[in-house]
Amino acid sequence: MQSTARVLVTGGAGYIGTHTCIQLLSAGYQLLVLDNFSNSSPEALHRVQAITGIEVPGIEGDINDAALLDRLFEQHAIDAVIHFAGLKAVGESVAQPLRYYHNNVSGTVTLCQAMQRAGVFNLVFSSSATVYGDPATLPIREDFPTSATNPYGRSKLIIEEILGDLYTSDPRWNVALLRYFNPVGAHPSGLIGEDPSDIPNNLMPYIAQVAVGRRERLSVFGSDYPTVDGTGVRDYIHVMDLADGHVRALAWLQQGLGIKAFNLGTGRGYSVLEMLKAFEQACGKTLAYELVARRPGDVASCYADPTLAEQELGWKATLGIEAMCADGWRWQSQNPEGYRS
Ligand code: NAD
Ligand code: UFG
Repeated sequence: MQSTARVLVTGGAGYIGTHTCIQLLSAGYQLLVLDNFSNSSPEALHRVQAITGIEVPGIEGDINDAALLDRLFEQHAIDAVIHFAGLKAVGESVAQPLRYYHNNVSGTVTLCQAMQRAGVFNLVFSSSATVYGDPATLPIREDFPTSATNPYGRSKLIIEEILGDLYTSDPRWNVALLRYFNPVGAHPSGLIGEDPSDIPNNLMPYIAQVAVGRRERLSVFGSDYPTVDGTGVRDYIHVMDLADGHVRALAWLQQGLGIKAFNLGTGRGYSVLEMLKAFEQACGKTLAYELVARRPGDVASCYADPTLAEQELGWKATLGIEAMCADGWRWQSQNPEGYRS
């Protein structure tokens, strides 16, 4: 992929999408963002423009709209697609499985059909470490068995398998399945970041909202895990590092190596209490918490072996938890109510 290529970014107004747009623009790519703003706002794209000084063409629309996709591929010379668009709340997926399968699975099928009609065969897909279920050993390698414990995770797994079948049917496809570990932090400008529309499900945005006074205290889910301090351990990865992984994946597609899954993680796990302490350092406050019962479905520890991404994509995470917390705090403190601030 030439770095002057045009990339369609589905879900590009979201948390990971906006950060990736910035890194793509600074690498010279031309972008077209398609987002239905179901979990984001046009303001996020205005901020990307403010940071980069480059206008990002944004189309409001749905990946399930085949006619719209055909028009976009017809009107713009698109070389590759980075596909972030998807619903991602685990609990919600248990309550509304059909909505998740329609949006994530059918949406991806509709997108790939439109790509096929347009003769565009380069795809980077947002997968997740959730496809490993409860791993037997750590760190997690890409060849570990996969399984799903909820409809969200199953939607990712099904999509990975569909994309595998697609490649088997037509070797012109080049697909990078990027399995993200736990993305956190924000762009160092503090202008963009994660903006949950409801009570945050994830640790870092919850801690950030406690720090800014929107929530009283963190509930730490489980303190009897076989980990360093009894709390859950995860591989937190700075969203700017994750964004760079997508730029590398686009370059990898150009080699025409077919379909491959890559872990995007740091290879290092931190416990909930370690993250809380690091955030306290970043914001200069003591943050209230209580130890409560385990959250159903959680695993004790999860961290990546990121060797394959280093070898094949030439990508490695560079930012540690200090930067993750400092940048996350800058975003939250400058935008206490997110993009509505
Ligand atoms: P996000 O919700 O901030 O971004 C997703 C974007 O897609 C949003 O802007 C939303 O409005 C849009 N969207 C959703 N359905 C759409 C549809 N049908 N048509 C058009 N746009 C649609 O989430 P994120 O954290 O940036 O995640 C991006 C991708 O990465 C998702 O596929 C998610 O499942 C995956 N992922 C996220 C994490 C994480 O912890 N954030 C971890 C692993 C994988
Ligand atoms: N946690 C708390 N309190 C909270 C929120 C989380 O103690 O209020 C704990 C969890 O129990 C876990 C750790 O913090 O030990 C991380 O939890 P997150 O919800 O932030 O992240 P998960 O690892 O559970 O899941 C996330 C995404 C999934 C994705 C997975 C792997 O939510 O969609 O990372 O990428 F699949």
